[in-house]
Amino acid sequence: MSTITLAPQAQGESLGAAIQQQISTMVDDLIAQLPNPKSLSSEQRCGIIARYTAVLEGNFIYWMTATYIAVKSDEVRPILAENLFEEVRDAHPVMMRKFAVSAHAFPTANDALSIDRELTNVRLFLGKLQGVQSVLTMAFFEGWIQRFMGFLADLAGEQGSTEREYTDVHGVCDITHTAELFRALSLEMAVNPISPDADLFEGVDILRTLIIAIVQGSTSNSAA
Ligand SMILES: [Fe+2]
Repeated sequence: MSTITLAPQAQGESLGAAIQQQISTMVDDLIAQLPNPKSLSSEQRCGIIARYTAVLEGNFIYWMTATYIAVKSDEVRPILAENLFEEVRDAHPVMMRKFAVSAHAFPTANDALSIDRELTNVRLFLGKLQGVQSVLTMAFFEGWIQRFMGFLADLAGEQGSTEREYTDVHGVCDITHTAELFRALSLEMAVNPISPDADLFEGVDILRTLIIAIVQGSTSNSAA
């Protein structure tokens, strides 16, 4: 479903541009499918914030670190380290928690467990330590997060919260992060190319399934 069709000779910048375009289209599709926050019940709005928080608060730094460990390019590591530096120095998980608590949507055990299978699949994928696929997955993640922030802020607003530090920061800084991760992708592909039979979009598709479960609530788990 997520395959790129390019002439075999397509390389370097044109391949990078084609991949970036495909990721951009996938993000556009996910954003276009978002419901109107006003049409949701309070419980539904809280569920989305809570599931998003259950994933992001404890996993973003872990997943960026997993990507750092996976890459082979010496030029890519500083790009990922800069991203991690900001996450840790500015304590993004603190912003995330404040945002969820202020919206009265801090995740319950049911919120966290309702997306357990989809979350586990992303963790297991990143555990394979595949440099190119991991960088692409994080580029997709950053791109989606940045576009998702307006919707997330609207959900919190409908819940009566005015806390916006998390959504304001990530609606801006992730534009640069996304561009830097696509630059990292090209660098890693040059040093550590994936085999022709490997699926470049393996992690992207797995993460996309998790994102859909965050927004819609999972239908594949009985824990909720
Ligand atoms: Fe962050």
